[in-house]
Amino acid sequence: MSKVRLTIDGIAREVEAGQDLLSASLGLGVEVPHFCWHAALGSVGACRLCAVRIHDGPDDDEGRIEMACMTPVAEGQRVELADPEAAEMRARVIEWLMVNHPHDCAVCEEGGACHLQDMTVATGHHRRRFRFEKRTHRNQDLGPLLTHEMNRCIACYRCTRFYRGYAGGRDLDVFGAHDRAYFGRYEDGPLESPFAGNLAEVCPTGVFNDKGWSEHYARKWDMAATPAICTQCSVGCNLFAAERGGRVRRVQNRYHGAINGHFICDRGRFGALHVAEARLDHPRIGGAPADAETTRAAVQEALAKGAVGIGSPRASLETNAALRRLVGAERFFAGVGEAEARAVGRMAGWLAKGRGASLKQMEAADAVLVLGEDLTGTAPRAALALRQTARGAADALAAEKGVPAWLDNAARVAGEGRRPPVALVTPMTDALDDVATWALRRPPEEVAAFGQAVAAALRGEAAEEAAREVAEALKAAERPLVIAGFGTGRGDAVEAAGAVAEALGEHARLALFPPEANSLGLALAGAEGLEGAVAALEHGRAGTAVIAEVDLVERADPRLVERLFAAAETVIALDSAETRTTARADIVLPVADWSEAAGTLVNHEGRAQRSFAAVSGGRPAGWRVLAGLMAVRPGWDTLDAMLDALARDLPQLAPAKETAPGAAFRLPLGQVARAPWRMSGRTAQDLAGRVPEGTPPADDDAALAFSMEGAQGADAPPALRTSYGVPGWHSASAAPFLTDGPDGPMAGDDPGVSVLPGFTAPAPLAEHAPRGAGLAPLPLHEPFSGDELGRRAQRLAQRCPAPVIALHPDDAAEIGLADGQRVAVDGGEAVPLTLDPAVPKGHVAATAGRLLPRGGGHRAIVEAAE
Ligand code: FES
Repeated sequence: MSKVRLTIDGIAREVEAGQDLLSASLGLGVEVPHFCWHAALGSVGACRLCAVRIHDGPDDDEGRIEMACMTPVAEGQRVELADPEAAEMRARVIEWLMVNHPHDCAVCEEGGACHLQDMTVATGHHRRRFRFEKRTHRNQDLGPLLTHEMNRCIACYRCTRFYRGYAGGRDLDVFGAHDRAYFGRYEDGPLESPFAGNLAEVCPTGVFNDKGWSEHYARKWDMAATPAICTQCSVGCNLFAAERGGRVRRVQNRYHGAINGHFICDRGRFGALHVAEARLDHPRIGGAPADAETTRAAVQEALAKGAVGIGSPRASLETNAALRRLVGAERFFAGVGEAEARAVGRMAGWLAKGRGASLKQMEAADAVLVLGEDLTGTAPRAALALRQTARGAADALAAEKGVPAWLDNAARVAGEGRRPPVALVTPMTDALDDVATWALRRPPEEVAAFGQAVAAALRGEAAEEAAREVAEALKAAERPLVIAGFGTGRGDAVEAAGAVAEALGEHARLALFPPEANSLGLALAGAEGLEGAVAALEHGRAGTAVIAEVDLVERADPRLVERLFAAAETVIALDSAETRTTARADIVLPVADWSEAAGTLVNHEGRAQRSFAAVSGGRPAGWRVLAGLMAVRPGWDTLDAMLDALARDLPQLAPAKETAPGAAFRLPLGQVARAPWRMSGRTAQDLAGRVPEGTPPADDDAALAFSMEGAQGADAPPALRTSYGVPGWHSASAAPFLTDGPDGPMAGDDPGVSVLPGFTAPAPLAEHAPRGAGLAPLPLHEPFSGDELGRRAQRLAQRCPAPVIALHPDDAAEIGLADGQRVAVDGGEAVPLTLDPAVPKGHVAATAGRLLPRGGGHRAIVEAAE
C-alpha cells in the first residue's frame, strides 16, 4: 500500500492511502469526535460531528470545513482539528443532538460508558439552552436480551447499518422522517438476528442495552474486567468478562483483529452467563454429598481398579493434559465418538499444512464453497464473517472504480452483481442463502460427493454441471476459500474440502470448524474416540471411567454411552454444573467453570488462546482437582507449572505457554489491574460488615490483579488487556484506538499462537455412513443454543425455539407417524413431530445435542412416545 503525507494540527504524519481521514486519525491516536462512523461499518456522514478544517495543500490558505469521515486522506493535506470554526461546529452539533435527549445519565445504564457522554464532554457542551417541550418516543419490548429507550437516540444510524447491512437482519429498521426518525421493529417483539446483542455496543448512547445487565447493573467503573475466551463454539472470540460482587454481570466484545473484530454473536455474549445455573458445589458419592476426605478415599479406591480418562472438547488444554497424565497416554480418550475425533484430527492435519483461514481472511475471500456446514448454527460469528465477503468485494470494486470505499451505500450498489461467488451446499435451508450465488441442497451423504466432484472438475475430469460451475468460479478467484465442519455428524466433507483446496493450489485456504471451543486442542492431545474407552472397560483393561467436563449424552451415540455406564464399575465425573452424565456418575467432583479459572483453548484455526479467571475464590480448575487425585502430587501449583508439564508430555502443545505472559510478568506499575482506577465502594463490597479493607485476593495463574492497583488498560500486552484504556473514551467506541488497521497499534499483535506446526494427522475414517438400523441422523444447530452449559443461560434460552424432531412426510407415513404426534429419537426427550418436505428422505432432523447427539456415527430410531 502506498503512503501519503499530511499534517494534522501542524504535526507531520504519514498514513496509508485509501483511508478516510477519520479512520487514519484514530489509528494515529488523534481524537476526532464522531458518532456515525464506526470502524467496521464505515461512514455515512449522518451526524456532522467530525467536522475539521481541511487545506488541500500549502497554497490553500482558507481551507474549508469538511467531515473527516467523508474525506479521503491526500498527499499534502493540512488538517486542523483545533480550528475555532470547526470546534464551534462540533459544539453546536452536540447541542442540537442533545435538544431532545432526556439527559438521564444518572439513571441510564450507559452512564459512565457512553460515547455520547464522552463526546459531550469533549466538545465542551455543558449548559442546556433549549427551553421547550422535548420530543418523546414510545419504547418497544425487544425481547429478553435487549432494552429499548428511543428517547436517547441521536439518529446516527449505526444500529440499522449494523443490523441490516452488516448482519443481514430484516426486522429492525428506521421509520418516520425529520426529527421523528424511529429505530425499532414494526411491532414489539424479540429481535430475530442472532447478532442483535451487538447493538448494545454499536449504539453510541443508551438506546439499546443488555437487558439482563440493565436489571442488575453496576457502573462500568465498578466492575472488574477480565480477558476471556468464548466457550460456545470453536471460533474462540475474545471477550471482556465484567464482574462485580463475585458474579459475572456482563460479557462484551474484546477486539481481536483476526477473529471477532468488533462483534460477537448472542450465543457468546449471553450464553456465557450460564455460570450461576445448576452449579455443582459439593462432591457427591452415590448421589449423596460427601466430604473431601471421603471423596478422595473413594476416588483412590476406584482408580486402583485401573482407569480410562475421557477428555473434553470444552475443557481447557490443561485439564485434558492433567487427565491424560492421571490415566496414562494409552488410556486417554475423547468424550466424543470416533467419527468426530477422527474428523477433528483430520481438520488439524489439513490446517497444519498452512492452509487455515482466520475469520479476517474469510472476509477477504473472493470465491467461497461451503460444504455441508450450517455456519449460522455451528459457528455463528463465522457466518457473520462470510456475510462480509460480499461487502468486501463491493468496497474493492468501488476502490477499483475510483469511488471512495467509505461511500458505503454507493459502493454496495456498485458492487451488486459483482459479489464474490458463494456456493452453499447444505442439507437444508440455510440462513446464508441470501448471500449465496448457488444455494444447493444435498443430503448429508451427498455433500462430500459434490465437493469431490468440484475437485475432479478442477483437475479437468468429468463432473456434474453444478460442480463444474462452482469449480470455474473457484478457479478464477485469487483468494478461494473452502469451508467445512462436522455439523452434519460426518467427516467426509472435511476430506472433500481438502481435496478441493489441493486441486486449486497453494493459494486456496480452508476454514474448518470443529464442534467445540477446544475440540482441536483435544485432537492435538492425541485423544481417540470414546469407542476405545468403552472397549477398554468391556475387556477388563480398566474398571473406572474418569470423565472430565463433558456430557457424553450430548455428544456420543446413546448406545455407546449405555455400554460405558454398563461396563464401568465406577464412573467419576468432574464438571461445573449438573449434566445428564453427572446425574448418572457414581462420584461427582465439582470444578471451575470458564469464569473461575484460567485455561488455554485451541480455536478452529489452531490458535491457542488464554482465558483468565473473572471471579476470585471460585472452585478449583479441573486440572488442579485431577492433580489432587494423583498418588504422587505432580507439583502443579500454578498454571505456569502445569503448562511446563503439558509441554513435556505433549511437545506439540508447548507453544501454548506463549499465548499470554506468565503470572510473574510485571509492567513498571506492577500487575495488570482488572478493576479500573475509578472503582468506588471497594471497601463496602463483600466485607459483610467488616470495616477494615481486605487484602485483594491473589491470582497465582495470571499477571492480573483482582484490584485496581497496578498497570491499566492499553499498557498491557494484548492477551492481558482489561480495557481499551483510552483516557476520556469510556465506551466500546474506544476500540478503534487499538485496532489493527494499517496504522493501528495492534497491527500484527493479535493474541494467540498456533500449535499446529508439525502435527501429523490420523488416517481418515474409512466409513462415514451412519451404522445400524433406522434413519440417518441430521443434527439441527440453533444459533441461540450453545452446548449443555450454554443452554442454561436463562435469557438466551428464551430466544431458543422449542426442540424439534422433523421427518420427510414420506418417511413419517412409512413409519406410521403423524404431524404433531409426540415422538422421541432413540428413547430420548419426546416432542411433537414436524413433517417437513425439506428434510432429506431417510433422515431424521432433530435439535443437536438435546435430541440428537452432535457426533453422528449411528442411525436413529424414531418412535411414538408413550
Ligand atoms: Fe463523520 Fe458522523 S462521524 S459525520
